[in-house]
Parts: sequence; structure tokens; C-alpha cells
Amino acid sequence: MMDNTSQKPDMVIQSRQDTRSRVVIGGQWAELLASLGPRLLLVADARLDPWIEVVGPAIGAQSVLRLPISEAQKTLATVQQVYAWLGGVGATRDTVVVAMGGGVLTDLVGYAAATYLRGITWAALPTSLLAQVDAAIGGKVGVNTDWGKNLVGAFHLPAVVAVDSQFLTTLPRREWRTGLGEVMKSALIHGGWLYERLGHLELPPPGEVGEWEPVVAETASIKVEVVNRDLYEDGPRMFLNFGHTVGHALENLLGYGVLTHGEAVGLGSLVALRLSEEYLHLSPQVRETVRRWMASWGLPLTLPRVDFEELWERLTRDKKARVRGLTWVLLHEVGAPRLVQDVRPESVQRALAELS
Ligand SMILES: NC(=O)c1ccc[n+]([C@@H]2O[C@H](COP(=O)([O-])OP(=O)(O)OC[C@H]3O[C@@H](n4cnc5c(N)ncnc54)[C@H](O)[C@@H]3O)[C@@H](O)[C@H]2O)c1
Ligand SMILES: [Zn+2]
Repeated sequence: MMDNTSQKPDMVIQSRQDTRSRVVIGGQWAELLASLGPRLLLVADARLDPWIEVVGPAIGAQSVLRLPISEAQKTLATVQQVYAWLGGVGATRDTVVVAMGGGVLTDLVGYAAATYLRGITWAALPTSLLAQVDAAIGGKVGVNTDWGKNLVGAFHLPAVVAVDSQFLTTLPRREWRTGLGEVMKSALIHGGWLYERLGHLELPPPGEVGEWEPVVAETASIKVEVVNRDLYEDGPRMFLNFGHTVGHALENLLGYGVLTHGEAVGLGSLVALRLSEEYLHLSPQVRETVRRWMASWGLPLTLPRVDFEELWERLTRDKKARVRGLTWVLLHEVGAPRLVQDVRPESVQRALAELS
């Protein structure tokens, strides 16, 4: 039987291939942001008031929302506040939203931009070290839910990410440390200049960035490179989870606020390095080097007391872990990460015991 419809070839809807996310380091970002569209709105972390006074006029923002925000407020309820404001100021499809703040703010505002009017253009102006080298880059946006972190979200690339280390001059010490957890992670999975450089850097004096500017730039470029190889995270982007398997479980078990994310990732990295020695014959010298960095930056080297059974339960609770088995990012060498699946609980318990 030949009817008309059966002769039609398969049809394809092509997703947009022209999406570009520019990541600019330092320089003339104000002009670049101002050129993104006819109407710019700024949503900023309310704590950044002195910066807002400067940035708002510099980019020609037509309205500014100062959002009180923290990890605990990274929720759909806060997204609703952003929607309500966007509605109130009459945002349309050609409105551009600039998100200025740490990773909590950029994740949340990016998610609002991904969903408002089924997606409007946004740009990120990350102000914390963690957001400059990691969170604001790569288009993963989202919020926390009652049943877990970052469980509601989208992939929505910002048109521009402007990384300017001058914002770090007002960043509190503990937030520097939390960003350093991610810098360290990138140095371990990528190796090269960054790994060599970190051994020679102290935290900058308050109010300064010191010699960290090129480190911020290099770490951001490593994130760009990894994301470019694997935007939707089924391959190399998983390497960015180095240190995060145990790190997330620790944060979750101890309750958010006891250890910052970066502190937990630091401890998680030490566990991952110990496991790398056992499973992939990584030289123990790497762990020694990393301990030295962490000590000099004031990151904790010992673990608060945790119940291993409970920690293991949290490690394996995740749905993906239940279906496919827990996947670990371990190192064969510095700069040579591998995914490893059959890590025995005894090995993890031993690695943790060495930290207490
Ligand atoms: N999307 C991703 O790919 C990705 C990757 C890693 C982390 N994240 C997310 O990032 C979040 C953590 O980000 P964060 O560590 O930036 O937290 P954050 O946004 O809470 O910022 C940390 C603190 O520093 C303050 N702050 C930020 N910039 C400042 C500045 N220049 N001067 C003074 N104070 C400043 C903030 O007000 C806040 O109190 C988490 O929610 C995490 O899930 C996302
Ligand atoms: Zn992280």
C-alpha cells in the first residue's frame, strides 16, 4: 500500500547549533555586556552593594534586583521572586539578564533565564573564586530541592561570562578557600602549568588578588576546555567531579555549613588520591604535594568524626549510582583522570580513617 504519508522521509528537528558562550577574562566586559541587547537587567547578590553601584551604570542596566541569597535560598521559591520581578519590569524575549554574584546566584538566575518565556538570553558576571573558575562557566544552571542539591535545572549557556578578578578583592577568606578546592581539582585533572604553579602560591593579603590572576584565568580555561569536549556531561565533563564523590557525601552528612563546599572537596580529593594509589598506582607524592598546598591555604586536613555506614549510604543513594554502580574519578597520573567503578567500601573506609 502506497499512500502519501508513508512516502515522506524521516523528519528531523535540528537543535540550535549557533549557541555560543563567550568567556572573557578581564578587560572590557562592561561594553561587551552592554552590547548584548537593547534592554539589560541586572540581578545581583544583595551583599555586593558597592559593586552594584559601579556595575549597574557601567553596563547600562535599566533595572536592578538586589537578591538576598545563600545556598539555603537557592530554591524555586527564590526563582519565583525573580520571575515576579521580570514580569513586573516587563521583560520580553529580547531582554538580557545579567547575573552578578557567586555560584549560588549565577546558578539560580541562569535557571530563571532558562525558563522565563521558555528561555531568555543571560550573561554571568561571577564574583566569587568558585564561580569564576567553575560554576558560571558551561551552562549548567539550577536550584536545590528538599530532596537534594541541584536536582532541578537546565543546560542554558550564558551568552557571555566575564571573569574579572578585581571582584575577588572583597571576597572573604573562607570563600577564597572554598574556590581553591575547585582550583586544586582542575590542577589535578589537567596537570601542566597550573599544577606546578599552585605549589608556590599563598593566599593573597586581604583586599588584594596578588599573583592569583593568571591562576584564575588558567583554571577558567580548563573548565572551558572540558565543557567544550562534552557539553552534556556524559564523558570528560565527569572528570570535573574529582574529589566530589566523597565531598558531596560529607557535605550532606555533616549538614551544609559545617564544611564549605571547597573544604569538603579538598578532603574528598585526599580520599580520591588515596584510592588512586590503590587502584591506579598513582605516586603517593601527589597526595603529599596536595596536603602541603591545603595546609598552606588553611584548608582542613582532618575529617570530623563520621559514621562510615551512613556515609556509604549517602554515596550510593544517588539513582545513577544504584543503576550503574558508583563511578569514581581517580587519577592514573596528574593530568590523567580515569573513571573507575569497582571501588570496594573497605578501601574507602581505610582512606577515610587515614584522615581522622
Ligand atoms: N553550575 C555549575 O556548573 C556549578 C559548578 C560548581 C558549583 N556550582 C554551585 O555554586 C554554588 C557555590 O558557589 P559559591 O561558592 O560562589 O557560593 P555563593 O554564591 O554563596 O558565594 C559565596 C559567598 O561569597 C559572597 N560573595 C561572592 N562574591 C563576593 C565578592 N566579590 N565580595 C564579597 N563577597 C562575595 C556571597 O555573598 C556568599 O556569601 C553552589 O550552589 C554549587 O552548587 C555550580
Ligand atoms: Zn564543586
